[in-house]
Amino acid sequence: MHPEQGEVIYTEAQIRNRIKEIGAQLSSDYQGKDLVIIVILRGAVVFLADLTRCMDVNATIDFIVVTRYGYSDKPGQLKILKDLDYPIEGKHIIIVEDIVDEGLTLYYLKEALLLRKPASLKICALFDKPARRKVNVAPDYTGFSIPDRFIIGYGLDYKQKYRNLPYIAVLREDLLQ
Ligand code: IMP
Ligand code: MG
Repeated sequence: MHPEQGEVIYTEAQIRNRIKEIGAQLSSDYQGKDLVIIVILRGAVVFLADLTRCMDVNATIDFIVVTRYGYSDKPGQLKILKDLDYPIEGKHIIIVEDIVDEGLTLYYLKEALLLRKPASLKICALFDKPARRKVNVAPDYTGFSIPDRFIIGYGLDYKQKYRNLPYIAVLREDLLQ
């Protein structure tokens, strides 16, 4: 059906169950606190929609769009294309992200947001590829830790396609060579 798709590695049910567990954990950790969920567009929106509906907390949601200048490891390489709409000073923040790969996006975003003096700042990522990390950043909440393979579906794209697949599949290996 999707010619560029390889093996399915997480089914819809597996993803749903894991997100329920993360939602319960977050609900307990942030009970009684005012929480701001920050979402990095676009890949994380599918995760956000399912995760927030499994959470029983007072939360507001804000969006940010960032880009990295090239693929350099130098500091200050993050550019904010669309900033948050609301201040975060004194607030408890969770950044919701689809996948942490080299880690540079989150590393620089975290640095930039900490300058705004939130009460706390944690990262919740549905997928983590620790083998590819270039900087010292790790999600505080992780859905699945995966090996170094390019995955598509459930918000994650290959050339902007496949975000709408309800499961996670690997991309056909030969397409990355
Ligand atoms: P990094 O951690 O700075 O390398 O950037 C992570 C971003 O790269 C994610 O938010 C995704 O947009 C993208 N990305 C990394 N690995 C994958 C993958 O396996 N499939 C789809 N997008 C990916
Ligand atoms: Mg992304």
